[in-house]
Amino acid sequence: MRIDQAHLSWVEISRDSFFHNVQEFKKRLGPTQLMAVVKANAYGHGLLEIARLAGEAGIGWLGVNSIEEGMTLREAGIGQRVVILGYVPLTKAKEVVRYDLRTIIYNPDNLKALAEAARQLKKKAFIHLKVETGTNRQGIPIKKLGNIYKLIKARPEVVLEGISSHFANIEDTTDDFYPRFQLQNFIEAINWFKNQGVEIPIKHIACTAASILFPETYFDLARVGLGLYGLWPSKETLVSCRRRGQEPLKLKPVLSWRARVAQIKPVPRGAYIGYGCTYRTTRPTKLAIVPVGYYDGYDRSLSNTAYVLIRGKRAPVRGRVCMNFIMVDISDIPGVKLEDRVTLIGTDGQDRITADQLAALAGTISYEIISRINPLIPRMVI
Ligand SMILES: Cc1ncc(COP(=O)(O)O)c(C=O)c1O
Repeated sequence: MRIDQAHLSWVEISRDSFFHNVQEFKKRLGPTQLMAVVKANAYGHGLLEIARLAGEAGIGWLGVNSIEEGMTLREAGIGQRVVILGYVPLTKAKEVVRYDLRTIIYNPDNLKALAEAARQLKKKAFIHLKVETGTNRQGIPIKKLGNIYKLIKARPEVVLEGISSHFANIEDTTDDFYPRFQLQNFIEAINWFKNQGVEIPIKHIACTAASILFPETYFDLARVGLGLYGLWPSKETLVSCRRRGQEPLKLKPVLSWRARVAQIKPVPRGAYIGYGCTYRTTRPTKLAIVPVGYYDGYDRSLSNTAYVLIRGKRAPVRGRVCMNFIMVDISDIPGVKLEDRVTLIGTDGQDRITADQLAALAGTISYEIISRINPLIPRMVI
């Protein structure tokens, strides 16, 4: 039985759209290599599904957040280079080496643990240093590079493969002051190593917005997440792109989220709908009950504000989003039947609902809308 016949809701992944987006970025990046950022269950698209598609598309690098995500990739037979972008607990250093994963390093203690694991396993530990350039998240201050480099030089099992950083304020503004400041700091760190006679092979700082807007940030590798999934990081990114006279990438959303109608229910004028009685009908109303709620990742702030598509038409959410259900108004949609397809994100007929629209309604960003779709919901590549 197919996923879409057997589940309450499911996520469809368009392979054509993904490949199309990869080509758009490859064209933009030229010789710079591409990393598909597949952390957070590939931004909700399905870790293994996207890792496999990335492999087919010839992407040689994958970026995950945790050791567990890295191990999942390896256990599924994924062979690309995998960089853990997040934190790895000291006790997990051996797994990093055993599973041929790379880590971002910014603490001497993690470096030592990794070197010791590699020594014991008689293998190499490939590391990418993360430099603090102004995001003040992970990263080594430039003035501490000397200390960490001393440790690296003392451990022959450690291979300094990469140096990286991450932009703080590239999506939220059309002002390029802060990215340029961070880029300058990154170049200073690269030059610090050059002055020691060390050329680090893989330098990387670019994310989606940088890949679209700033060729000077490309270096050897670009870590692209959202763009590969067919979404723009922000309106500001698109505005900046147009202002600079750059051709905007033609991105196609990869993900659609669908469910089915679980009940059709006529209610009279004046009926209250759902928890808290926050909605009261103003006319005799036909409701469709949809088996998706905030547990599934349909945010509760979409209560009484969002809509879904059924038979190509908009059905507004009435009342509060429950843990496992929403109620939608189908009074103006003729012919809706039990188990009819419901579109929460995606296209149906002439209309569509985008992650950006839901994000605007929920007061958040598309990154959160898609990455929080419950990983237990099946993903289906079509
Ligand atoms: C370290 C790092 N690199 C790259 C990315 C990819 O960013 P984007 O999805 O905007 O391309 C992220 C995403 O949050 C990240 O944390």
